[in-house]
Amino acid sequence: MIIEKLRIQKNMSDEDFDAIYPFEIRELSERHWSSVFVSKIASEFFCNQKSVKVLDIGSGAGKFCFVGAALHPASEFHGIDIRENFIEISNELKEKHQVSNTSFQLQDVLQMNFSGYDGIYFFNSFQEKIDPTSAIDHRSEVSIEQYILYTNHLFNELNKVPVGTKLVTYFAEDFCVPDSFRLISTHFKGELKFYLKDLESHESHTLLNEEDINEHIDKHTFLSE
Ligand SMILES: C[S@@+](CC[C@H](N)C(=O)[O-])C[C@H]1O[C@@H](n2cnc3c(N)ncnc32)[C@H](O)[C@@H]1O
Repeated sequence: MIIEKLRIQKNMSDEDFDAIYPFEIRELSERHWSSVFVSKIASEFFCNQKSVKVLDIGSGAGKFCFVGAALHPASEFHGIDIRENFIEISNELKEKHQVSNTSFQLQDVLQMNFSGYDGIYFFNSFQEKIDPTSAIDHRSEVSIEQYILYTNHLFNELNKVPVGTKLVTYFAEDFCVPDSFRLISTHFKGELKFYLKDLESHESHTLLNEEDINEHIDKHTFLSE
């Protein structure tokens, strides 16, 4: 019903949309899930009247995928997440609301490559590794080593995707994005960024900038002391 309503009433409030979730998932929404509005403008950037395949890295309870899929029925939205309960609820809601152009899979991003997608959405999934205030649940643990490992993997995989791939980052640091991606536009005081890959990887810097990542980590370590 809510997904149907969203197709007609495109400016649905988050409160109305989040009613599809049980209380414990709804509670996480304000901090951890993309808003309906962010999901709407990001999915418009990906789809732009074409039928495309979009990957959400760390899809949580599927909110970005559900909003994108409802508004762009000819496109496909695939979410992966490391938390089993989020994937379970996403799959239950997909069936219940018959959102056939979504799919969700339990997967650690480290185990996947990003090939086969026209668009990639990344809402700062690794922040919980350096920032205790970003903890999602009792499984969140601070690990600088893992933060560096995950960020390197993201950067390297983004470097391998073909020219023409679109990327949207939300609350993510610039050093995560290789300079083979060109910034197209920014929204929400620069927190939401739209990119297009327009250089082959061999024409750009192919290593994560260590100085930038260390500075970011230091800032968080300092703040949490
Ligand atoms: C900020 S939430 C974003 C949720 C969703 N993309 C949205 O916009 O509504 C980040 C998600 O990334 C997931 N995550 C964290 N580390 C991950 C990893 N290594 N592999 C896959 N997912 C991960 C978390 O479980 C969490 O659900």
